[in-house]
Amino acid sequence: MTFRNKFTAIDIYCGSGAVTEGLKAEGIAVLAAVDNDPIACETYRLNHSEVHLCQADIRALNPTDIRANINFSGQLDLLVVCAPCQPFSSQNRKRTPDDPRADLVLESLKFVEEFEPTIVFFENVPGIANSEPLVSLRQKLATLGYFLGEPKNLNAADCGVPQRRERCIMLAARRLDQIEAFYNSITPLPHVTVRQTIGELRQLCSGERDPGDPLHFARKHQSLTLRRLNHIPKDGGSRSSLPAELELECHKGRKNDFPDVYGRMRWDDVAPTLTTGCTDVTKGRFAHPRDNRAISLREAALLQSFPPHYRFFGNSGQIARQIGNAVPVNMIRTLAPALKLCVQTI
Ligand SMILES: C[S@@+](CC[C@H](N)C(=O)[O-])C[C@H]1O[C@@H](n2cnc3c(N)ncnc32)[C@H](O)[C@@H]1O
Repeated sequence: MTFRNKFTAIDIYCGSGAVTEGLKAEGIAVLAAVDNDPIACETYRLNHSEVHLCQADIRALNPTDIRANINFSGQLDLLVVCAPCQPFSSQNRKRTPDDPRADLVLESLKFVEEFEPTIVFFENVPGIANSEPLVSLRQKLATLGYFLGEPKNLNAADCGVPQRRERCIMLAARRLDQIEAFYNSITPLPHVTVRQTIGELRQLCSGERDPGDPLHFARKHQSLTLRRLNHIPKDGGSRSSLPAELELECHKGRKNDFPDVYGRMRWDDVAPTLTTGCTDVTKGRFAHPRDNRAISLREAALLQSFPPHYRFFGNSGQIARQIGNAVPVNMIRTLAPALKLCVQTI
């Protein structure tokens, strides 16, 4: 295989392949990818069979073997590193300072050493900005001849994703002007709304399926949940509208705790941040703006900007987890021209 004249990338912590999907859509050739989750890897293979996927614990991997397997001797343009964000996430209530996953971001260094990519793109949550591993990452990248740009917070909603999703991005490169060129060429896009994204999908009742789309089905809610949903005003309503007898025991007198639980999305706004519980109304503002039900897996996938043809492996819970963990496809698509530009900066 020859990749001359093609912009090339390696995607580590690739999950179900949303980053790869975004890169490919922008004409970037993904040579290899790494993840250790067997379900996400199965989804990755369904959609990106041409990419050399290493299903392994990255800590046990030798990037030299990957280079040999893909038979690549050219200059790698881009290494993408979307390491697990749970150790740095404010959403993670079980977060501990000694979570061993925090150091996974440092595993990228052996790939930098082996492939010497022109640039390295990091995506994580804003909490990584003040973390110990970031200090080590910066120091160790410097010993390899790379500058690490300052962490920059970016909302996926400003990248053509119909969802509020605050992320932290960073770029490493051998020259500071490349990093500047990247940051300077990111310009916010107009927001895409929930209505524009899922408004045309078939209306569903709790437990109903769209016969034309295996991912568009509504979870079957218990009658108490349905009574609650019936009281939540359409188009953005919240559990604060529930009558006292329908309030959850744990919410009584605590209107400000978990205010999004049982909430509905708003048609003419972006969606809230989708999590791995994105089809469960008890986990956040995941009720449909109009129908008395949680959003379907199809709606969740579209709100993460997966294209409609994207295929997912696994049961409902496993698919929701892959969707919630994904880096939105359109976020990568929007950033891809800036990544290309700074590689061409001479
Ligand atoms: C934030 S998700 C990546 C999302 C992905 N880039 C996408 O586009 O959807 C982090 C990924 O790291 C993977 N991961 C966690 N620990 C790992 C390890 N020790 N080795 C390899 N992959 C790991 C998880 O399985 C998960 O898919």
